[in-house]
Formats: sequence, structure tokens, C-alpha cells
Amino acid sequence: MVNLVVLGTQWGDEGKGKIIDLITPPFDIVARYQGGHNAGHTVYSGGKKIILHLIPSGILHRDKLCLIGNGVVIDPKAFLNELSYLKDFGIEINDNLAISKNAHLILPYHGLVEALDEERRGDNKIGTTCRGIGPAYTDRAARRGIRVGDLLNLSVLEDKIRSNVEEYNIFLDFYGEPSLDPGKVFEEYSNYANQIQKYIKDVSFILNEHIAEGKFVLFEGAQGTLLDVDFGTYPYVTSSNSMVGGVCTGLGVSPDKIDVVLGITKAYTTRVGSGPFPTEIHGGIGAFLQKKGNEFGATTGRPRRCGWFDAFAVAYACRLNGIKHIALTKPDVLDGLEELSVCVGYKYKDQRLKGYPCESWVLSEVEPVYKKVRGWKETLNDSKDFDSFPQEFKDYVHLIEDLVGANVSIVSTGVQRDETVLREDLMRSLIDLDRLKNGGKHT
Ligand code: GDP
Ligand code: IMO
Ligand code: MG
Repeated sequence: MVNLVVLGTQWGDEGKGKIIDLITPPFDIVARYQGGHNAGHTVYSGGKKIILHLIPSGILHRDKLCLIGNGVVIDPKAFLNELSYLKDFGIEINDNLAISKNAHLILPYHGLVEALDEERRGDNKIGTTCRGIGPAYTDRAARRGIRVGDLLNLSVLEDKIRSNVEEYNIFLDFYGEPSLDPGKVFEEYSNYANQIQKYIKDVSFILNEHIAEGKFVLFEGAQGTLLDVDFGTYPYVTSSNSMVGGVCTGLGVSPDKIDVVLGITKAYTTRVGSGPFPTEIHGGIGAFLQKKGNEFGATTGRPRRCGWFDAFAVAYACRLNGIKHIALTKPDVLDGLEELSVCVGYKYKDQRLKGYPCESWVLSEVEPVYKKVRGWKETLNDSKDFDSFPQEFKDYVHLIEDLVGANVSIVSTGVQRDETVLREDLMRSLIDLDRLKNGGKHT
């Protein structure tokens, strides 16, 4: 067994939730390290579709400890709503969940200023989820953020809310927006405090203690590498480090606790929100992928833009994160297409680029270089092992492996847990397959 990071290699929504839920059984802990309720991780469990935003996807497995690290931004209202949403599915959460006291809170002014900022940007808007994520991280960096731990001391909380609301009111007044009443915000948050206090812990300490006892951790990434605030397609990114570096800073663990990174990769490309997308297909097959792949945001319901598989981008993500294993999701959506295109590189001003260009003014002008390959007629979902997949699909997988420099160790062919092909020879080095098949029990 290893401590495993699961993260997205594209612009999010690669199917992380499904794979995390599937491989959770042999792990002891599932821990989120960044993002917030901008994430939407879909899991099908017991015949029901469940979408997780803030709470780790491992929560559906009752015996797992789920941790929310300091790198995550928490909207307490969204958190409490998610608890009651899960309760409706019969999932009770008590001491199997902890939130880091160092995580930052999202407050009502964050969503308000974000909406104004997006409006002000006009055609250049980021297309954010408008959940207040970016402004909450801004406050953290500006050292005026309010932490989850401040919910444990109501007089400190009151002072901080008062001071921040006064500052934000200057901004709101400038834009002709109604001011916020600091007293009301405090009242709302002190009410949340009462309900959340029991989950607030020293998550870094707990995590390191469990690792020292020989427990295994699955680190759950949100968003995807191309949305990383430093290495993604800036400024059309989220405001956290979704790449592997975020694990250490977002949970308080040292790099030697990370053994392997499993990249989740969709067999084509999607993107929600604005920003350059070199392999986007407008209409035609793009519309086909959107419809067949049900490419509508799990958080905002917005249609996802769709395009061909971009091996140049995924190779970049593999290099940045040290990915040697990939879970390839949704290739079933490509069933029946006669011909597929795979982007093998970018040309900019007639020159083939070596490194991935993050500058949006370059990325919006690159010309993708495509390799055309034959599609497959068969339904992938009918195959229960890798060898019995159609030859054209196996060729597609091998081409991807060559181009991105990682093994496709898992192939997902549908939304359900059992619609997955594990290449056991490759997976054996990562997780205890016997324990996986045993539903998490030690053999
Ligand atoms: P995440 O944010 O990475 O967890 O992904 P989302 O849940 O936002 O989006 C992935 C969508 O694809 C969800 O609706 C999943 O149920 C669905 N999905 C995941 N894997 C597969 C697959 O292999 N085939 C198909 N057809 N759908 C899948
Ligand atoms: P999961 O975890 C896809 C996108 C938004 C927007 C940009 C910035 O489900 O893969 P933000 O609200 O974070 O400031 O928005 O990032 N975005 C996502 N796109 N999947 C996600 O999460 C995303 N979380 C944020 O659409 O373009
Ligand atoms: Mg999602």
C-alpha cells in the first residue's frame, strides 16, 4: 500500500469523485487539501447519485476518517447543507470528519465582491463558480482572513468580522451596493460556530499521527492541474494549488508522506467557465460529446465546453505532478465515432512549442497539431478486462500512454463502481487489491 494523491490532469470534472469512491476501501483516511465548494464530485453509491462539494468523497465509506485540510476554504453554510444532504442519504457524520482549525472561512462579502468583480471584467470574466472562493483566498494572502479556528472564540470572531465587514462596506458602497450589517453577519456565524465546533481539530497533527501508526491516506484533489493558480492557464484558473504541491501546504504533511500520484484524465477534454481551450470543438462533435457525456457542471449546472483529447496538456500535468499512473475516464462517450483526433503538440507563430504555454495570450493563439486515429464501433462498457477491449481502443490507450509518459492503470467505462477495468498488474504496486475486493477488510 501507498499514500496516494488523486488529482485532475485537465480543467476539472475528470471523474475524480467516481475513482476516489471506487478505490477508497483499502485506505484508512481520505483528505481534501485545497479548493472549496466550487468542486462537485459525483459518486454513484447504492443506486443513488451523490454529489460532494466540500466533504471528501470517502465519506460514503463509513469506516474511513475524512479530513478537510487548512488549504480548503470553508463556507459554513454550504458545509452544514452538505451534512444534511448526506444525512438524507442515511450518511451520519460524527467523529469520522475533522476540519482543520487553520482552514479559512468564506464570508458573505466574498461572494458579493466576486460577483461585482466578474461583472466589472465584462468579456474577460473568469467564469467563476461565484462561491466566494477567490476572495477568501485573497483575504488569506492579505492576512485579514478569518479562520475556522476563530469559530472557537466568539469574541475574537466578532472583532474580526466587524473589522472586515467595515472594510468591505467601503468597497460595496463604492459600487452602490447595500452595506452589510456586521452584527447580523456575526450572529449568523456564531450560530454556525455552535454547529461546527465539534469538527474543528488540528488536522495536520491527526494526519501525521495516523501516518506514523501505519495508516494509509488517499489525498483528494479538487479542480485540475490546468486550473492551478500557479501552473494553470492563469488568470482563468481557481485560486488554490490543485497540483500535488498543494498536498503539503494544504494538509501539513511533508513530501516524503506522498508515495504516488494518480492522475484522473478524461478521454476527451472539457472546460467550464472562460479561458483559452485549444482543442475545443464548436458544435458538431463538441455538441455530441456534451450531450452524450452529460457535460453539465455538477456544481453550477453550466454546460461544459468540449473538445478533443489534449495529450500535450496532459503530458504537462503528468510532468508537474510526477504522474506515472492514470485513470482514464469516459472513453465510452467516444464509442461509435469513426475517427478521433488527439492533440500531440501546439504551434505558435509557426513554431512547435516545447513547454506548455500558460500565458493566456499565447494559449489563445496556438494551433493544435493533431494526430488522427481510428475510433471503435463496439460498446466499451461490455468489456470487463483490458484484453477484451476493441483493438482500436487499446491503440488509443497506448498512444495516450506514449504521449503523456504514464500508464493507463484504470479504465472507467460508466458512472457506476463496477463499470471500471483495473489493470491489476499495474495497480498491484499501488493498493492492496485483495483488501479492495474485500470491501476494505484486511485479508
Ligand atoms: P469530478 O469533479 O472530477 O469528480 O467529476 P464530476 O463528477 O464533476 O464529473 C464527472 C461526470 O462524469 C459525473 O457525472 C460522473 O458520474 C461521470 N462519469 C465518471 N466516470 C465516467 C465514465 O467512465 N463514463 C461516463 N459515461 N461517465 C462517467
Ligand atoms: P471539480 O473538483 C471544473 C473553474 C470555474 C472557473 C474557474 C475559477 O469538480 O473538478 P472558482 O470558483 O474556483 O474561482 O472558478 O475554475 N472550476 C472548476 N471547473 N471543475 C471544478 O471542480 C472547478 N472548480 C472551479 O468554472 O472557470
Ligand atoms: Mg466536478
